[in-house]
Amino acid sequence: MELIIQPDQERAAHLVARIVAHELRMKPDLVLGLATGLTMQNVYRLLVQMHREEGLDFSRCRTFNLDEYVGLARNDPRSYRFYMIERLFKHVNVDFGNTHLPNGLAKNLDEECAQYEKSIADAGGIDLQLLGIGKAGHIGFNEPLSALRSRTRVKALSPATVEQNAPLFGGPDKVPRRAITMGVGSILDCRRCVMLACGADKAGVVAKAVEGPITSMISATALQLHARCVVIVDEAAGKLLKEKKYYRWIFENEPEWEPFR
Ligand code: F6R
Repeated sequence: MELIIQPDQERAAHLVARIVAHELRMKPDLVLGLATGLTMQNVYRLLVQMHREEGLDFSRCRTFNLDEYVGLARNDPRSYRFYMIERLFKHVNVDFGNTHLPNGLAKNLDEECAQYEKSIADAGGIDLQLLGIGKAGHIGFNEPLSALRSRTRVKALSPATVEQNAPLFGGPDKVPRRAITMGVGSILDCRRCVMLACGADKAGVVAKAVEGPITSMISATALQLHARCVVIVDEAAGKLLKEKKYYRWIFENEPEWEPFR
């Protein structure tokens, strides 16, 4: 795992967008794993800008989202499909047929989850997975006690997640109680992971995820097992990290980061 601290939220999102752009230019048919949430909105805005201003080409890119609520239609403004269309898909030249999210309205949800895993495998696996982190430490909707080897499945949302998402639904009572999510094991199979966390309210959980022991109570800690994972934070989200000096030194000296400094 590597940890990169950027001065602010905009610079942190910019670094993530540049990593995506770099991978997409190297491999135009990139299999890109996507996350939703407030943090990722800046990344998608910057990718749209890169598409418009630099011709960043999504025409051969395949995408797989981490999760979707159970019970929401694709065109429901609160669904993650709708979020992706509004924030990214309709503004770039991605082929909609190449964009994948779990179907939260599937009659047989277990079958849908197995099919989702199969679609990812058929695409050759995910090259680059974008991740956010919930205040209680989830990646995707892998709530506390999610098995570190879990695969795509239906999960009940924790009270903390319901609370976090309540403003988007007009109150905790209206938040769906379940979601389909890629598992921790599915995420660990991705060839590269980039996690973005911004803001002071993520500082505690970022410190636990990066410097704490690996535990299924905080699924993001499983990323410590990943061979190629970078966590990008702004100063506020990184403020409780103990080894900041060391992380900055690595970023300054690691040849891989030369084009990104
Ligand atoms: C959403 C997802 C979640 C979010 C996390 C952070 O697809 O996978 O794990 O990334 O809850 O959400 P924000 O950015 O809204 O704080």
